[in-house]
Amino acid sequence: MNHLISTSILNADFSNLQKAIEMVNISSADWFHLDIMDGVFVPNISFGPRVVEQINKHATKLLDVHLMIVEPDKYIERFKEAGASYLTVHYEACTHLHRTIQTIKSLGMKAGVALNPHTPVSLLEEIIRDIDMVLIMTVNPGFGGQAFIQHSYDKITRLKLMIRERESPALIEVDGGVDLSNARLLINSGADILVVGSFIFRSTDPLDTITKLKNA
Ligand code: DX5
Ligand code: ZN
Repeated sequence: MNHLISTSILNADFSNLQKAIEMVNISSADWFHLDIMDGVFVPNISFGPRVVEQINKHATKLLDVHLMIVEPDKYIERFKEAGASYLTVHYEACTHLHRTIQTIKSLGMKAGVALNPHTPVSLLEEIIRDIDMVLIMTVNPGFGGQAFIQHSYDKITRLKLMIRERESPALIEVDGGVDLSNARLLINSGADILVVGSFIFRSTDPLDTITKLKNA
């Protein structure tokens, strides 16, 4: 498949979020990537389901919600109500991951599992057939604008191999430090979806930057 761009709004101007949403709406980006941080699982606090609900009122593209929170099971239903199409939980935050995945899917959402940089892809072997997406963190979660961790390419290649061998439908999403210098290599390594935040919102022409990422 052609790669998708999921725009992370974490580094957008939150005093004028509607403007950022409308820019993404008319751009060639495919999804909105919404980062939920609780100040416990990661050392930062972002926003919760009510803001997702407000974004959903204006967004014309799918909401890809990335939960960086402990005890995600408590909020699955709330994020469904808020408009999430993809709901991704962290492997490191789930004691009963299989149950969490089943709950997400039973509510009609696509289920994603995120791996921190130190978490090996081999830990997904028993669950890979059940999930719709694997999110590979290519920075330590918590902040936008961090430097891409170089050894991630090999991790993506190994994950792609596992997905093929196990005949899993899972897509591979890459999140953190993605820009035009690494986009093509990430796609060649097996990435299906590129999450991009600060590279878009810090550029002088965000629409043009998204087009370039889409054509990478
Ligand atoms: C980091 C978040 C990312 C982040 C990506 O914890 O999960 O989605 O916003 O932003 P950039 O592209 O700036 O690394
Ligand atoms: Zn994210």
